[in-house]
Amino acid sequence: MFISLIQKRRSIRKFETKEVEAEKIDRLIEAALRAPSSMGSKPWEFIIVSDREVLAKLSMAKQHGASFLKNAPLAIVVCADPDKSQVWIEDASIASIFIHLAAESMGLGSCWIQIRKRMHDNTTTSEAYVSQLLNIPEGKRVESIIAVGYPDEGKPPHKKESLQYEKVHLGSFGKPY
Ligand SMILES: Cc1cc2nc3c(=O)[nH]c(=O)nc-3n(C[C@H](O)[C@H](O)[C@H](O)COP(=O)(O)O)c2cc1C
Repeated sequence: MFISLIQKRRSIRKFETKEVEAEKIDRLIEAALRAPSSMGSKPWEFIIVSDREVLAKLSMAKQHGASFLKNAPLAIVVCADPDKSQVWIEDASIASIFIHLAAESMGLGSCWIQIRKRMHDNTTTSEAYVSQLLNIPEGKRVESIIAVGYPDEGKPPHKKESLQYEKVHLGSFGKPY
């Protein structure tokens, strides 16, 4: 059931060394390619990275929040073409989350790594760093990297009591649900 998958879902940043099988990678990509996009524009491009040296370099895309990628067996870099969709950020984000949830459904762990709007160092954006490393053509934008692998950490589901139901309004803003 999709709802139980959502209830279990956590971001996983520690992975076993085991590789992700080709069939599972194919399922992740299929999930991404089945994501909805504005006006069916499908502005995305996906780069599958499993080379450990490249993963180590990608883990340096920004100063915080990407280092765990050097110990991941797989990354899927989610890019998009702004010329193909004015709302490419939404399109790329939805595809990213489809990958994250598809991973969960196959017993894999994954975590979104934000690239757009992040800096590699004082002068270079994370996007420029990733684009240069992976030969991404000029004009294509990089939204995220989804790190994927077999989980080597267990995280409990978020308890229902911890959900912020106070942010849900009934009928109009401020009326409690
Ligand atoms: C748009 C977005 C950007 C994120 N960027 C990062 C990131 O750069 N590095 C990271 O370790 N986690 C990142 N995360 C994962 C969040 O930290 C995580 O979802 C949040 O802490 C809640 O934990 P949970 O996913 O286990 O419920 C990102 C998640 C989203 C949705």
